[in-house]
Amino acid sequence: MAHLNALVVDDSSDDAVLLLRELRRGGYDLDTRVAATRDDVRDALSRTWDLVVIDHNLPGFSGLEALALVRGSDAEVPVVFVSGTVGEEAAVAAMKAGAQDFILKDNLARFVPAVERELREAAVRRQALRADDTLQSTIDLLERTVQGAIQTLAFLAETRDPYTAGHQRRVTELAEAIAGAMGVNGERRHLIHAAGTLHDLGKTAVPTEILTKPGRLTTAEFDLIRVHPRTGYEILAGIEFPWPVADVVLQHHERLDGSGYPGGLAAPGIKLEARILAVADVVEAMSSHRPYRPALGLDQALGEIETNRGLLYDADVTDACCGLFADGFSFS
Ligand SMILES: [Fe+2]
Repeated sequence: MAHLNALVVDDSSDDAVLLLRELRRGGYDLDTRVAATRDDVRDALSRTWDLVVIDHNLPGFSGLEALALVRGSDAEVPVVFVSGTVGEEAAVAAMKAGAQDFILKDNLARFVPAVERELREAAVRRQALRADDTLQSTIDLLERTVQGAIQTLAFLAETRDPYTAGHQRRVTELAEAIAGAMGVNGERRHLIHAAGTLHDLGKTAVPTEILTKPGRLTTAEFDLIRVHPRTGYEILAGIEFPWPVADVVLQHHERLDGSGYPGGLAAPGIKLEARILAVADVVEAMSSHRPYRPALGLDQALGEIETNRGLLYDADVTDACCGLFADGFSFS
């Protein structure tokens, strides 16, 4: 015998008894409550029910109002309306308001089959909801895993080179602000965040003595540094990010006229995210201190991108960046 917790909203105890008898005959072992007033219904809804049966005509308050109370506390429980006489309109209104079925009292033979069907369908709905929850928590876990991988790799790059530490964070901050000013949003912003946070990851393969060497680098030393976008690409290409992080890292030293590295790519081949990162990278690097030179200052940094606007650096990105600083942007 199937156990069933059923709430019956009915002002007539005779009718309620009749409905409950039908359910018992239908093979249900019942745990029931009959509620006749608004307060009764509110009180009954302090617990959960497997089924709610509502008499359409309730003196003092309406079946539809009872249904609204039920739906306010439980969106999923099957609700079956029962009525002595009712027009088609009232039945349609009840279904629209969230009732599962409408049974006439002179056709109670339909009652138990309707209850059986609605209980089955409610079980299917609950299962689908549980599956949605499971899927969502898997997606959440994946997102946390991706963010964890990004932070771990960024931390790795920073432990090797103290100048990389604040640099990657500040470049990301500026790149995201530029993207915001340009109306670049959604997935592209996630990509900019990830690529910015990791853009110098390839420097982990450069000897620390070169990264932290005071004074000018030799050509051979500089050549070793110039490999870092490709090294970063190779490390990141092995991780299946939801966005092309490795490609953007690979391109962050490319210049519009093809004079950049490592690919010597010209304008059409350089991704927008990499163009944004390139400008943010230059401005942050020039305006802060490096082992081989003191800070050149923000004015000189902005002068560099303005002078080469449309030549080395994307014109829209340059304008957005200069506009941000004109509006008072500063690195936190
Ligand atoms: Fe770099």
